[in-house]
Amino acid sequence: SKLLSIGVLGASMIAGVANAEVRDIRIGVDVPYEPMEYRTPDGDLTGFDIELGNALCAEIGIQCEWVVQGWDGIIPGLQARKYDAIMSSMTINEQRREQVLFSEPYITPPSAWFAPTDTEITKPSKESLEGKTIGVQRGTLQDNYVTDLYGDVADVNRYATADDMVLDMDAGRLDIVFLDFPIGKSTLLESEAGDYQTVGKKITKPKKYFGEGFGIAFRQRDKELAKAFNEALATLKDNGTYEEIHTKYFGE
Ligand code: ARG
Repeated sequence: SKLLSIGVLGASMIAGVANAEVRDIRIGVDVPYEPMEYRTPDGDLTGFDIELGNALCAEIGIQCEWVVQGWDGIIPGLQARKYDAIMSSMTINEQRREQVLFSEPYITPPSAWFAPTDTEITKPSKESLEGKTIGVQRGTLQDNYVTDLYGDVADVNRYATADDMVLDMDAGRLDIVFLDFPIGKSTLLESEAGDYQTVGKKITKPKKYFGEGFGIAFRQRDKELAKAFNEALATLKDNGTYEEIHTKYFGE
């Protein structure tokens, strides 16, 4: 396997500083989360995160292998060394910063509410959501937000995967769901299985929940690795590769 030395300097070698190189890594991801990470009909992983992640690894000069991991165990899996990074639409926020080291944000989508077009909910609030059944993916910031704001008046159904939630929505078992906007757009607004719309405005605040965009997470001590990804991200933004991948998944 290919190794790339990053700043291997005489001084640090004399001082006995190890870990000055970035090696091939494994990246944990929870699928499906279309269009960010999902499988093609042939079963191959694809999506914005997968393509950007692969391009970042190519730029750094390392091989990256994707490891599929359920969302609620995704940070423990990183700490347990099942993989060395998480690239899974993970929002950078203060609570997670205590556990992991984040790259710079690589995309900053809002969250949004989605409901059937015939919904009577026009604006999400304690009054309008009272007695309603709300769907979220378990352990996401959307789960935290909905639980804190509406958990006392509404029924919150928590799903292991975004797909299970969409299936229950299609089956008419949910009144409304709260999701990262691009996922709701792709799995509900553009779905053949039902007629859906967004309800209310796209949401990006407060920061405590909605953070600062999606980042790649590393173990706290892997500073060289995070630096290599940040530098590669800046390069891909400069040379048009980022734009190309972005356009492929989100249009112009
Ligand atoms: N952005 C949200 C969060 O960080 C949800 C991400 C879920 N990602 C996934 N691949 N299922 O909490």
